[in-house]
Amino acid sequence: MEIINLKPTEIKKDFWWVGAIDWDLRDFHGYETEKGSTYNAYLVKGNNKVALFDTVKAEHTDTLISNIKQIIEPDRIDYIISNHSEMDHTGALPEILKIVKPEKLLCSRKGAETLQLHFHRDDWPLEIVDKETVLDLGGKTVQFVASPMLHWPESMVSYIPEDAVLISNDIFGQHYASSERFDDEVDQGELHRQAAKYYANIFLPVSSGMGKFLDKLENQKLKLDFLAVDHGLIWRKDIDGIIEKYRFWSSQKTVPKAVIVYDTMWGSTAKMARAIADGLIGNGVSIMVFDLHHNHRSDIITEALDARAIILGSSVLNKNILPKMADFVTYMKGLSPANKIGAAFASYGWNDVATKQLNEIMEGLKFEIVDSGVAAKYVPSEDDLNKCRELGKNIRKAILA
Ligand code: FEO
Repeated sequence: MEIINLKPTEIKKDFWWVGAIDWDLRDFHGYETEKGSTYNAYLVKGNNKVALFDTVKAEHTDTLISNIKQIIEPDRIDYIISNHSEMDHTGALPEILKIVKPEKLLCSRKGAETLQLHFHRDDWPLEIVDKETVLDLGGKTVQFVASPMLHWPESMVSYIPEDAVLISNDIFGQHYASSERFDDEVDQGELHRQAAKYYANIFLPVSSGMGKFLDKLENQKLKLDFLAVDHGLIWRKDIDGIIEKYRFWSSQKTVPKAVIVYDTMWGSTAKMARAIADGLIGNGVSIMVFDLHHNHRSDIITEALDARAIILGSSVLNKNILPKMADFVTYMKGLSPANKIGAAFASYGWNDVATKQLNEIMEGLKFEIVDSGVAAKYVPSEDDLNKCRELGKNIRKAILA
């Protein structure tokens, strides 16, 4: 891949960002990444030893090597630390190991297993680290904090106390390609939207573990000047703000908001969605309405993150919900949002199977179902639409209860 030669960025003295920017990424296993992404790697020089934290996606290997070479010859690196085995951070490892020939490749116990299962190499100089390990670089030390299932079993983060930098792996990241490197250098609305999108699409299913990890960080009273994330902008200004947001998101608390999601065949389910929205709106409840023909699952989940209610509607096709709704609910089931109110609506020709299927899915996610929902035969009558408005009012009452 052609190298876009952005210079490495020195975060603290002898602490460099040497990653790669992926301007073109638009899909990250089903998550639409409209702003691209970055794969952040960090080079840290101590008085005696040099360490590289994480690598980049395989096709950006040349950029990583080029960035390292602007600071130091790659074979001067003594240690490579792998905080997370997913291939956006380890794709470059085989090539980097060949060039660097490090003394040690450090990772968690699970990380050793996961790297082996990815790369099937028994000649790599793997060494397992844990919370007791202190890696001395000379004037800088590295500590390791396990972050299991955030979001893979082997995940860990690295902390350099002398620089007050936490290399936080995917945690606090955003898929956000930018020529800027720090949180205070970009549009704040976009930054926080991308951070919320990242949380909703990556960390939502492991929220309880995230809460425990945040407690652990707080208990360790780490001084934090930088949260050096593995994707997107490095936090240096709004560290408290992003930790506070992670606290809120991981608690799965909600705001008075309803997200109405539907797919429609001939416009009948769309009419019902609008009637439910009419009944729902007001009294401080905010609503968002998403037609699955025009909205991506990952954007809808981002809006659902703090919503109290998720309302699902679909026409019936061949004894099933429509394919785009099936896609959405499959994605939502994987992310398993908690603490939600739900309701279903459908238009059908001969059998209403859609409200039943949608209610079953929401019950499986332990949604509080407001009522059995509204189904209209073919095109909704005024009476059907009034039932939808009534359902909207009942959802609002449940949200405000
Ligand atoms: Fe950025 Fe879980 O990889």
